[in-house]
Amino acid sequence: MEEQLRALQEKTMEALDRAASTAEIEKLRVSVLGRKGELTGILRGLGALPPAERPVAGQKVNVVREMLTVAMDEKEAKLAEAEMQARFEEEAIDVTAPGETLHRGTLHPLTHVLTQVRDIFIGMGFRVEEGPEIELDHYNFELMNMPQDHPARDMQDTFYINAETVMRTHTSPVQARTMLSSKPPIRMVCPGRVFRSDDVDATHSPVFHQMEGLVVDKNINFGNLKGTLDTFIKQFFGPQTQTRFRPGYFPFTEPSAEVDATCTACGGKGCRICKGTGWIEILGCGMVHPNVLRQCGIDPEEYTGYAFGVGIDRLANIKYNITDIRLLLEGDARFLKQF
Ligand code: PHE
Repeated sequence: MEEQLRALQEKTMEALDRAASTAEIEKLRVSVLGRKGELTGILRGLGALPPAERPVAGQKVNVVREMLTVAMDEKEAKLAEAEMQARFEEEAIDVTAPGETLHRGTLHPLTHVLTQVRDIFIGMGFRVEEGPEIELDHYNFELMNMPQDHPARDMQDTFYINAETVMRTHTSPVQARTMLSSKPPIRMVCPGRVFRSDDVDATHSPVFHQMEGLVVDKNINFGNLKGTLDTFIKQFFGPQTQTRFRPGYFPFTEPSAEVDATCTACGGKGCRICKGTGWIEILGCGMVHPNVLRQCGIDPEEYTGYAFGVGIDRLANIKYNITDIRLLLEGDARFLKQF
């Protein structure tokens, strides 16, 4: 029995020495001192000894039990301390570390302008339409009163995809699409990207943005057109702004006009921005040509309408004093984060 006891003590102390975690010690404790443990087994075996020897033997077992318990407790306390320390280190938060700056995006200046322009027209009862950027020549030109070989086609340098398909050169084809798909009264605006094969410089880009407007109803006249566009320009640039309508030419409107606003930089006195004239050109417009109405299934004897097309990039340039259109398309964050 004593031999057995010494072997167990030795084995247990060795295992304790190797133990590297409190969990391992707990396992050892159960396997030696637990109810079904080895030492407990020896204690139970004492029943087989003659009664006279039992007390001494029992004492020896208890001494070993005491000794192992103390050793386990000590080592366990040491390991527990180390484990706690490791956990502290792992979970530590450095409250003195500088905060991380979250970079917040901003809306693109074109988005600001487009939203504002669209909201002004929505406020006047217009609805918002959309049309394809890759467009049939038929809608982009023919239905807009520019048949093949019409000289006005040269006003817009066109990217042709094939003989029948173009990158739309203006948002005007959406006029045709709207008239063909809905009946008057029509009151719509259509913002979108347009394409012209222009070389890039400070004032030209092969991609830019327009917003088309179209109103078709009974008894629509030039006065309605003037009132609407004057209201729009005053709401966009401010109530002090004056407008002026000059005769112009577009194949799809008759009569046609170009609309100027008093220069936002000098208020109309004349400066570098308006080249001394006091006026800046804002948009093109006119009464929808009867040929356009007719080709789009609307009787020009019964209905009349007006249309306009405004350059969104141009509005942004004027509003924010941007002198190079390329800034609007290059995506340079140093420029964009100012808006
Ligand atoms: N589509 C014309 C352009 O791109 C603008 C315009 C639209 C003029 C509607 C009159 C009426 O220049």
